[in-house]
Amino acid sequence: MSSPTLVSKLPQVGTTIFTVMSSLASELGAVNLGQGFPDFPMSETLVSLVYKAMRDGYNQYAHMNGVAALREVLAAKIAHLYGTPVSPDTQITITPGGTYAIYTALTTVLQPGDEVIVFEPAYDSYIPNIVINGAVPIRIDLQFPDYRIDWETVKQKITSRTRMILLNTPHNPTGAVLGPEDIRQLRAIVTGTRILIHSDEVYEHLIFDGIPHQSILRYPDLLERSFVSFSFGKIYHCTGWKLGYSVSSPSLMQEFRKVHQFNCFSCHTPSQVGLAEFLKDKDSYLSLGPFLQQKRDYFAQLMTGTKFSPLPSYGSYFQLYKYDRISDEADRDFAIRITKEYGVASIPVSAFYQSGKDDRVVRFCFAKKAETLERAAERLQKIK
Ligand SMILES: Cc1ncc(COP(=O)(O)O)c(C=O)c1O
Repeated sequence: MSSPTLVSKLPQVGTTIFTVMSSLASELGAVNLGQGFPDFPMSETLVSLVYKAMRDGYNQYAHMNGVAALREVLAAKIAHLYGTPVSPDTQITITPGGTYAIYTALTTVLQPGDEVIVFEPAYDSYIPNIVINGAVPIRIDLQFPDYRIDWETVKQKITSRTRMILLNTPHNPTGAVLGPEDIRQLRAIVTGTRILIHSDEVYEHLIFDGIPHQSILRYPDLLERSFVSFSFGKIYHCTGWKLGYSVSSPSLMQEFRKVHQFNCFSCHTPSQVGLAEFLKDKDSYLSLGPFLQQKRDYFAQLMTGTKFSPLPSYGSYFQLYKYDRISDEADRDFAIRITKEYGVASIPVSAFYQSGKDDRVVRFCFAKKAETLERAAERLQKIK
């Protein structure tokens, strides 16, 4: 009996290094600083609010666009932080996580043959999301070692088929952030064209040293042509909740909702009701940057006792470290060996490049309890 044939829509995609490193870490009982999730508890207050929402009977389908009270509080937060009026009715949609918001935005706009500018190293869903829509990723490397965008190269890569530019600030895996000059360059490139923007801001608030977050939401002229994706899971230390949202212009959001309507349709109701209440307290988000900055600084201090050399991290959960004083191995081999021999898992940064570009740096996640960071550093200090 012949088996049904299938033409893969993503023939290039296999098991990623993230799965490899996490499996290795759990198999060996290694300290896992590889995958980007916190190992400390989330807010008790938020847990109680969600529990209360369930007890109060908020257990049926939410509105397709998201619970109204949550969209309203988000609109108020956006106005407060970025000074931009955004309609909760027509410009915000609650989604099951940031990854879904990104996928839906790309699926909403991309047609076969469209070109999409994507900067590498890149979060792993971007290129498969482009390819599955029949569009073409135009990859541009960020400039090592500060991972800035070379806007001259961007200008050279623009063609009549360019449909979208994908941004991510604060950036995974590098911890780089965009500055006002990046926004100026971006505006100069897109104004007067059909080019749309997708801005992945799932690490909003996780930005350090008093640097202002260059959200696209600050810039109404850019928001007109943008989708901006956020994640509650990432910033409220509950990645397993898979809840986020998308903000866009009314006309783009109308099309986004058509795709969303026949995919997940609506998201977990009690979490939305709990978040709507939780977000009324500004401290719930204003405290996040200083909290994570303290973790970054503590880990950096512990790492001074090792032979790893840090690259700067201005935001996100992550810091990159060079290991040239230890070895000249390829980053993948190095990360696997260190997990096996010293019991600390990291992610080799070449995994974030389709070309496999290897600058001999690994990514550590510092969104961990103090004792986890201490245990990891103690082990890394043994590497000679
Ligand atoms: C840059 C970036 N975008 C999106 C996501 C996904 O967010 P969520 O877990 O809400 O889907 C992640 C998670 O690692 C990320 O690092």
